Amino acid sequence: MTQPPYPLRLQKFLARAGAASRRGSEDLMTAGRVTVNGVVTTELGTKVDPATDTVCLDGIPLSLTDTHTYLMLNKPAGYLTTMDDPQGRPTVKELIPHAEHPGLFPVGRLDYDTTGLLLFMTDGELAHRLLHPRHKVAKRYRALVDGALTEEAAQPLREGVTLHDGPTQPALIRIGEVAAKRLTPREKLRLEADETFSPWQTTAWCTISEGRKRQVRRMFAHIGHPVLALKREAFGPLELADLPSGAHRPLTESELEALRQSV
Ligand code: URA
Repeated sequence: MTQPPYPLRLQKFLARAGAASRRGSEDLMTAGRVTVNGVVTTELGTKVDPATDTVCLDGIPLSLTDTHTYLMLNKPAGYLTTMDDPQGRPTVKELIPHAEHPGLFPVGRLDYDTTGLLLFMTDGELAHRLLHPRHKVAKRYRALVDGALTEEAAQPLREGVTLHDGPTQPALIRIGEVAAKRLTPREKLRLEADETFSPWQTTAWCTISEGRKRQVRRMFAHIGHPVLALKREAFGPLELADLPSGAHRPLTESELEALRQSV
């Protein structure tokens, strides 16, 4: 985890310590409620070093040590899950307030084309526990797969299949609607010429507790139903719900509590 640049502006320190938003922190300062080393500080340009300065709000010392940021992003397709791509491709860093919350990093990863719930935090210890296989944090994905998926065809995924990197644990699979694909003129021609080409697609939900690379895509490909689109709807107790694509929001206190409880 990277450390924020120190010293930092006092209103940023206050916001990161959880005193208020950045704007609200400025109001606290101008109201004379903030002291630095015992001196009331209303000057908005003031910088502090959290290692050596004592910052108080209404006489109570504030600290950054256990103040972490936790947020969820609804990742759109076309972004890499990394905070730094040497090749300059779009990354999730562009979608989160990384400058305001130095040290934010993604917990796990979603493929370039996968959308949905991506968790970010500055709390390395909790992230480590969430990613540790021992804690078996469940992740629920909604997949649009090629072809008309039947219960029988999906059964191996419920029992576990062997991929090139070993057997998968049993997955929870729920099959939804089978729908006709909207075919392009070229696909219509292909349908006539190629009997392996399916005019159907199926929505299915897949819940797994592992986190191997491209695991859900490989699982469905293994049973002959390649994934056409993949979205993560839930991570442990967290639900993406109606967060718009590309948007992020902080976790609520109860979500954070539930997340901690889950590991
Ligand atoms: N499984 C996949 O195949 N891709 C993801 O992005 C996440 C899980």
